[in-house]
Amino acid sequence: MGTLIQHGTVIHADSSVQADVLIEGETIVAVAANLPPADHTLVDATGLLVMPGGIDVHTHLDMPFGGTTSADDYLTGTRAAAIGGTTTVIDFALQSRGHTLAEALAVWDSKAEGKACIDYALHMAITDLSPAGHPHNETLAEMEQMVARGISSFKLFMAYPGVLMIDDGLMFQVMQKAASLGALCLIHAENGAAIDVVVAQALAEGKTAPHFHALTRSTQAEAEATHRAIALAEMAGTTVYIVHLSNSDSLRELKQAQARGLRALAETCTQYLVLSLEEQMPGKSFEEAKYVFTPPLRLKANQAPLWQALADGSLSVVSTDHCPFRFADQKSLGRNDFTKIPNGGPGIENRMQLLWHFGVNAGLLTPERFVALTATEPARIFGMETKGVLAPGKDADVLLWDPNAAYTISAVTQSMNTDYSMFEGWQVKGNVSRVYSHGELVVEHGKFLGTPGRGRFLHRKANAGELL
Ligand code: URP
Ligand code: ZN
Ligand code: ZN
Repeated sequence: MGTLIQHGTVIHADSSVQADVLIEGETIVAVAANLPPADHTLVDATGLLVMPGGIDVHTHLDMPFGGTTSADDYLTGTRAAAIGGTTTVIDFALQSRGHTLAEALAVWDSKAEGKACIDYALHMAITDLSPAGHPHNETLAEMEQMVARGISSFKLFMAYPGVLMIDDGLMFQVMQKAASLGALCLIHAENGAAIDVVVAQALAEGKTAPHFHALTRSTQAEAEATHRAIALAEMAGTTVYIVHLSNSDSLRELKQAQARGLRALAETCTQYLVLSLEEQMPGKSFEEAKYVFTPPLRLKANQAPLWQALADGSLSVVSTDHCPFRFADQKSLGRNDFTKIPNGGPGIENRMQLLWHFGVNAGLLTPERFVALTATEPARIFGMETKGVLAPGKDADVLLWDPNAAYTISAVTQSMNTDYSMFEGWQVKGNVSRVYSHGELVVEHGKFLGTPGRGRFLHRKANAGELL
């Protein structure tokens, strides 16, 4: 006995059709008009849109950072994701300096164990090529093992000196190795060294409020690093993916590279599309710590170019960079010094609502492009062959979306484990009706119905060489 979703409009990345979706077990077996019901559970999707479940490729669950740990673990974070229409996340495992990638993987495996509510995959962040006590360049050898274990993307931080930042030599070696493996290099592109100089100058002048987090991290610092990362990737012959691209200066670098035919891809995140420096961080109160994340909020003038780039394909993905911290006891660590505010914001639950409301309802994105940005392109770019498309043989990760549902975002009703929402009181039109994961109904009426631990680790293919 399967599930037959009838009378809905199926939205693909390149077309929309009136069609039914038939699920048998964990898999989609047919997408076609007027499928004959047999011994199926019938779901009436009249007036609803039927889409592939969302894929959020950039999350930080249960991650030690900024002197504390991100507030959502694999249970609360993936549950909130599911409630928001996301059926797969790619989280970041971080290599600690002095430790191997295998050790980092073991740590992140245990974080997810028994908790994940939806499927999850991992990127591996590299910080150290030769951990003490191991052969020289052991990490490069380990990259091969990671790819064999389904971790086909590696993250490099050009920011956060002394914590996560790597130098150009390390970045270049990882890129060369990734090229030989068909793996994808993800880059946090900010010139961390230059930013640290500006930050020290600001603190010396007594500029300690959250607002100065944003003012000390210029768009030029991000654009310079974007340019450098793409240049090194070109030298190494690899594909590069810039994470959380936030502004039009960086976008210019990306577009110039793409115009030259370079293999450069990028995402932006919901927050850069709908929040701004002027509106959320005018420099008036410590409450603005709620919006301290990196790269920081930019002037509103950057938003229109980002939307345009999502529509024209220069930007391929919208992720959240979900890295939540509570205001009361975590953001407050930086009350007297913005550099001590843990960097990151909560967003995993609201990505689909915000992108639909401010993108599709506003006429900036088609429903098809919405599906491409939230599911189909993430699956393609990150080597998830069973995800991101509603078609026979694919995992039955299906989102029923009500384009007319009104919803008010609030910390009081959200599932994310924070004491605030970055979008408090915002009214959106368009929301989740039902979510299926592997054919199981896991969300209805805004409630998670599944069992924590049901989510599975997703083995991803190394296909970066075939992307462009
Ligand atoms: O502020 C942020 N983005 N925190 C998470 C770490 C990162 O840089 O992605
Ligand atoms: Zn980052
Ligand atoms: Zn991040």
